[in-house]
Amino acid sequence: FSSKLLAGRKLLITAGPTFEAIDPVRGITNHSSGKMGFAIARAARAAGAEVTLVAGPVHLPTPRGVRRINVQSAQQMLDAVLQQVPGASVFIATAAVADWRPATQAAHKIKKDGTGEPPLLRFVENPDILATVAQLPQARSGALYCVGFAAESEDLLAQASAKRVRKGVPLLVGNIGPATFGQDDNALLLVDANGHRELPRASKRVLAQQLVAEIAARLPRH
Ligand code: C5P
Repeated sequence: FSSKLLAGRKLLITAGPTFEAIDPVRGITNHSSGKMGFAIARAARAAGAEVTLVAGPVHLPTPRGVRRINVQSAQQMLDAVLQQVPGASVFIATAAVADWRPATQAAHKIKKDGTGEPPLLRFVENPDILATVAQLPQARSGALYCVGFAAESEDLLAQASAKRVRKGVPLLVGNIGPATFGQDDNALLLVDANGHRELPRASKRVLAQQLVAEIAARLPRH
């Protein structure tokens, strides 16, 4: 595993879930340990990249030499990403972003009102961070290489291929089931314009190194 693969490259990675507040004590979130994104950050750093990790709420130590920006909500994650994207040559979206957030956040804890009627929550759609970044001029020109992830329960190849096109990214990485929330190993399906290949079940550490090498091989020379 060459330590020079990503020398001189700036990588931006999202990881973990987002947390969308309902009121000061409650919110909705997704299952995500953040382990895959953190493993990629560590591997990219070891490959010589300058790495910024935009992390939702997770219980993981920051990999050595990686700059970490902590966020809670999808909107905060998008803001942080857009602030960091100038100069980046790779964007990897591993975060499990909540698709919706409550339309309003109550300033105080919502109380039971004694009638037995539960509160009705309205939701609005969150921004799609990956699709937003993939539409930026530097991504469309190929200067910023964007990588998405997909966790599907069935028909992974077809779903991942469709998602790659829909999100407008050159590389889409599918998590090969069963659901691997919080687990230390995984298997990955890489889908790009030329076809697909599988990275067989291994630790997230090893898969992250393999993925970093796959991404490095797809970057334009600089
Ligand atoms: O559409 P879906 O959520 O399955 O897409 C997954 C991919 O898109 C992942 O790479 C995820 O990090 C990214 N994503 C995002 N912002 C969203 C939703 C998903 O960046 N709001």
